[in-house]
Formats: sequence, structure tokens, C-alpha cells
Amino acid sequence: MSKVLVTGGCGYIGSHTIVSLLSEGHEVISIDNLTNSYIESLAGIKKITGQDVINHNIDLCDGPAVDAFFSQHDDIDAIIHFAALKAVGESVKEPLRYFQNNVDSLLHVLKGAEKTGVKNFIFSSSCTVYGQATDLPVTEDTEMKEAESPYGRTKQIGEQILKDLSTHTDLNVLSLRYFNPAGAHPTTHIGESARTPALNLVPVITETAAGKRKECTVFGADYDTRDGSCIRDYIHVVDLADAHRLSVEYLLNGKNDSSYEVFNLGIGEGVSVLEAISAFEKVSGKKLNYTIGPRRPGDVIAIYSNYKKAKDRLGWNPKYGVDDIMSTAWDWEVKRPY
Ligand code: NAD
Ligand code: WQD
Repeated sequence: MSKVLVTGGCGYIGSHTIVSLLSEGHEVISIDNLTNSYIESLAGIKKITGQDVINHNIDLCDGPAVDAFFSQHDDIDAIIHFAALKAVGESVKEPLRYFQNNVDSLLHVLKGAEKTGVKNFIFSSSCTVYGQATDLPVTEDTEMKEAESPYGRTKQIGEQILKDLSTHTDLNVLSLRYFNPAGAHPTTHIGESARTPALNLVPVITETAAGKRKECTVFGADYDTRDGSCIRDYIHVVDLADAHRLSVEYLLNGKNDSSYEVFNLGIGEGVSVLEAISAFEKVSGKKLNYTIGPRRPGDVIAIYSNYKKAKDRLGWNPKYGVDDIMSTAWDWEVKRPY
């Protein structure tokens, strides 16, 4: 069993991944400055796994603090680097803050890895690196287009830095390109609780149904799709978490063919916005107050993945569909304490 450093471990995907790692006997340590999360997520992890996780409240942009952390932790086997700012719209308004946070933090963690001889690194990338993809489903060989936002650019830059490092050092890297993560742990002890206002479709739906916002606007129903609304590949956060645990084990067992590999993590099913709303109404028994509004600038019309590579190489078999996503997200919304 291994010791894994999870950066962003108190966040949405990080906390679910910690549960998956602990459940399979891995040891975990977290770094998170709580800029977009709450320390209470560790109590949720404890309720699910019975185990305590230590979080180090360090800003990963603080080079000396990160260096000091690694000086005291020279026995880490693998790093999963989730920590980043992730709001696309915010990144358009504050590009420099996004470049600084997402690139500086990555470089500092990589320096620490080099200093202490960590050889295995997993990077949170995103389907946003594909930009306006024209050929569907998207495979790992699909060409990367211009990033649609500074946030997207930080993911492209991160991948490029890691590719170069894996070529010129002995670091093994997996870049995992997530499609649309959503849902919550079925125990409802952890879920999505950001400090920034939720803008993604699933939390907007659940917050509207819970009365925390007045209505949900469907951004365009006049696209050339089966019902006119945009199509995405929603992936349950528990399936995504398991893919990270499998990725750690893949690298630790030396199953990678090359020092830099990319995996798409989606479930290969395109779901439209209107279909997502219907799924929510079906599983919650609640009618959603929504209206059809104008298109959102920058939206890709349709994108979904081919995840065959993750299935074949990592042995990943996602278990959940859009109904499970909506029912767990709704259960979490009703119960969430923070
Ligand atoms: P999140 O905001 O819940 O988690 C990120 C965590 O990183 C937060 O807890 C935040 O406090 C921490 N963090 C940010 N900057 C930090 C810094 N400088 N120092 C220390 N901690 C810092 O987001 P998430 O949804 O769990 O996303 C995790 C990763 O996955 C991110 O890299 C994100 O870009 C990527 N991603 C997310 C999605 C999505 O839709 N959720 C999709 C594709 C990729
Ligand atoms: C999904 C669909 C909207 C809100 C974003 C990032 C991407 C990745 C995942 C990090 C779209 C529609 C949404 C609403 C709506 N994140 N929608 N009303 O834009 O596919 O991807 O999260 O890497 O980089 O861009 O996700 O949840 O915002 O939108 O109609 O109030 O729901 O137009 O078609 P998106 P989303």
C-alpha cells in the first residue's frame, strides 16, 4: 500500500478520491488552503471510512511553505494534484489570478516531488482542453483546439509542463481529462460545497429545487441537437474518484507504457440539458422552475467522450448514470450542512 499526497483534498473531487484511496488501504495526506472548500469535508470522510485524514492548510503558491512541507514528508509514493481555481467565468475576469494560482501551485508541487524523489504524478485536466471539438466522441487523440478561457489555458499549460518533465526527468505522469463531474457520495456525508457560487448545471438545478435560487435558465434550446439544448457527458464523482485510485495503482505497479499518458474520464453518453432536467424531476419527484434563455457565450454545442482507453488500461468501469447523479446530488443538497 502506498502513501498518496492529495492536493485540494478538502475539495469536491479530492474528498471523494480520498474516500476511494482509504477504502482500498492507501495512506493519504492532504494539502488544501480551503480557498474553495470547507474543513468539514474531512469529518464527512471520517464518517464514511472511519479514518482521520490530516490536511495541511498551505497555499501552494507559497514556495517556501511548500518546500518546508516536502522537507518533512520525504516518503510520498504518488501525488494527485487537484488544487486549482476552476470557475471558467471568473478566469475570464481575472486571468492573471488564474495563471498564477494554477501554474505556480503546479510548479511548487513538482519542485517538492523532484526534491523528495516522488516518481508518480496525476494531474487534474479537463475536457476543456479540446475546445470546440468537431469529431465526436472525443478520444485522447482528438486535437486540442484554442482554449476557450484562461482557465482552460491553465490546463493546457499544465499538461505541456508535465509532458516535458516526463520526457526529461524520471517522472511518470497521467493527465486525466474529466468531462462533467457531478453527483455526491451515496452516504451524503460529502458532496459539492464550493465557496464560489455554483454555476454548473447540476448544482444550479438542485439549488433551484431547494429554493436557494429563484429559477434555472436553460442556456439555449435552439442548437442543432435532438432537443435543441447542449449535450454533455456527466460523470458521477464516485466513478471519477475510483478512476484516480486506479490511476495511482496503475503507476505504482509500473503498468504505464510511456512516462506521459492521457486518459479521458467520461461515461461516453451525451445527455442534453433538457434530458438532465427531466432526470432530476423523475428521481426527485419535484417540478423544476426553469425557463429557456439565450445561449451562453463560449458554450460547446455537444461534447462526450470515448473512454475505452481508461476501461482497457486502468480497468475502470463507471457504474453510475445520470439518474444516480441527480438523486445523489439532490440528497446532498437537501442534507448539506455547509
Ligand atoms: P474544488 O474547488 O472543489 O477543489 C479544488 C481544491 O483546491 C479546493 O478545495 C481549494 O481550496 C484548493 N486550492 C485551490 N488553490 C489552492 C492553492 N493555491 N493552495 C492550496 N489549495 C488550493 O474543485 P474540484 O471540482 O474538486 O476540482 C478539482 C480539480 O479538477 C481542479 O483542478 C479542477 O480544475 C479540475 N476539474 C474539475 C472539473 C469540475 O467540473 N469539477 C472538471 C474538470 C477538471
Ligand atoms: C453544462 C451544460 C450549459 C448552467 C464546465 C467547464 C469545463 C469543466 C466542466 C472544469 C451547458 C448548461 C449550465 C445553467 C444551463 N470544468 N447550463 N444553465 O460548461 O460543460 O463545463 O464544467 O474543467 O471546463 O467549462 O459545464 O455545468 O456549466 O454546463 O443551461 O445554469 O448546462 O449551457 O450546456 P460545462 P456546465
